[in-house]
Amino acid sequence: MCRAVAVANQKGGVGKTTTAVNIAYDLAAMGKKVLLIDTDGQCNSTDTCRARVDGVATLYDLLFEHEKPEECIQHMEAIDVIASDKLLKNPETKFPDDAGRLFTMSGACEGIRQMYDFIIIDTPPTLGCMLSNALTFADEVVVPVTCDRYGMEGINDLYLTIDAAKRYTNPSLRVTGVLLNKYKERTTLCREISNALPEVLEMFGTKVFETKIRECEDCKKAQSARMGIQEYNPECTTAKDYWMLCGEIIRRQA
Ligand SMILES: Nc1ncnc2c1ncn2[C@@H]1O[C@H](COP(=O)(O)OP(=O)(O)O)[C@@H](O)[C@H]1O
Ligand SMILES: [Mg+2]
Repeated sequence: MCRAVAVANQKGGVGKTTTAVNIAYDLAAMGKKVLLIDTDGQCNSTDTCRARVDGVATLYDLLFEHEKPEECIQHMEAIDVIASDKLLKNPETKFPDDAGRLFTMSGACEGIRQMYDFIIIDTPPTLGCMLSNALTFADEVVVPVTCDRYGMEGINDLYLTIDAAKRYTNPSLRVTGVLLNKYKERTTLCREISNALPEVLEMFGTKVFETKIRECEDCKKAQSARMGIQEYNPECTTAKDYWMLCGEIIRRQA
């Protein structure tokens, strides 16, 4: 059965795109059939996966122009991609002004579920209608947070958004886990955050992934080179961490 996993946090720079792209590639390398949907108008994951934005049908066409899903899927070497679109940079006004507003994406994408083992959804850095649409369609959410002083800032607001989705549009939505990213083992701050986190998250009824994604320069370089970290340098810490994380995601199915 397909698992649609949204990678969400309204904070920018926490590693949503990095996580979405790398778990998509790693799950594919583990033999899963994977679709990546980029819902962020900045098109970062579309670009990293080398999918096209111009001259092709994008998520915009799927959501707002009644384009067929099959026409919007780009078949890349390892994964399939539905590209984002610069027209989605300010999507609030595009969604219908009625009760169906939050169901636009699930309505348009429901039919493609059966084609995949995993649908990974990269989301924008805002608590807007696009994120709520993604949370209405998704089965699960992965929440990356950075290990720094402000890493947990805004996490309450994200949980309110996830909670609203659970209450109003998607009762079976669950948080697969919170993911510590840019982890630096030897810093006290990182250890403190890592130690304090489980208690904080218990309040919300969720868990922290055992796997932490360590900070590594190659991660940035891979993004610049428009490559997955496994392909760029399979020996680096981030590559090993994302591989472990995917094992954990697969095991957390139960
Ligand atoms: N584990 C990591 N180690 C080093 N750099 C990272 C790591 N995770 C993400 N980055 C870098 O941080 C920046 C923001 O990451 P990105 O995935 O684009 O965040 P978001 O999508 O949440 O805005 C990028 O330059 C990315 O390469
Ligand atoms: Mg991003």
